[in-house]
Amino acid sequence: MNVLEVANLNKFFNEPVRNQVLNDVGFQVAPGEFVAITGKSGSGKSTLLYLLSTMDTDFEGSIVIDGQQMKGKSNRWLAAFRNRHIGFVFQFHYLLPDFTSLENVMLPARKLGMYANDQIEQRAMDLLSLLDVKDQALKRTALLSGGQQQRVAIARALINEPLIVMGDEPTGNLDSANSATVFALFKELAKERQQTVLVVTHDEDFARRADRRIHMADGRIVKG
Ligand SMILES: Nc1ncnc2c1ncn2[C@@H]1O[C@H](COP(=O)(O)OP(=O)(O)OP(=O)(O)O)[C@@H](O)[C@H]1O
Ligand SMILES: [Mg+2]
Repeated sequence: MNVLEVANLNKFFNEPVRNQVLNDVGFQVAPGEFVAITGKSGSGKSTLLYLLSTMDTDFEGSIVIDGQQMKGKSNRWLAAFRNRHIGFVFQFHYLLPDFTSLENVMLPARKLGMYANDQIEQRAMDLLSLLDVKDQALKRTALLSGGQQQRVAIARALINEPLIVMGDEPTGNLDSANSATVFALFKELAKERQQTVLVVTHDEDFARRADRRIHMADGRIVKG
């Protein structure tokens, strides 16, 4: 079974004028696949990922994740589904600035309510360590560098072991060593834990090393 099935997806923005930004997008992704989404600036990559993340519910067509249709679900249902199944790393990370790195990473797991606090803390520390920001665990995230914040955001996205990890330029703020760490981590999640990884990237090297590339131009998937 596919973990993600997108069919006949259209997206319009109405401001300042009605504008079609996604045009009949369709594709399927299997569990454990590592997919790079590429394309020029303005081609619709972030718009697509935002729809797939279920945060934007205004679209035509069908998005099925883990066998469940996302269309027509309530915001409350989607929020719970997202927290359980989707880990998202944004272009801008949206950490809570007045909470520590550790607290930020633990938050989605606390919301999920499946594990005891000390288990969650242990796992959060392991992730911070994997991403080489363990030494920043007890600092408020407002005080971290951009690259450190991005790595904390990646740890937060992974805490609930999501079915799908989605990233919009997750390595955009990172130097080459840290980009390589994140790439290797994503690769491991895909290969060894069968988590699906869907990453928008401008990094050719990153895209080439993914299992598959979805290339976009003018809101459509094209061969690239
Ligand atoms: N909220 C919005 N309202 C109106 N138009 C929008 C909105 N968000 C995006 N667009 C338009 O949709 C198109 C696709 O934008 P999108 O952000 O998906 O591009 P992208 O491929 O992610 O580009 P980049 O590589 O620069 O991040 C662009 O023409 C953009 O101007
Ligand atoms: Mg974008």
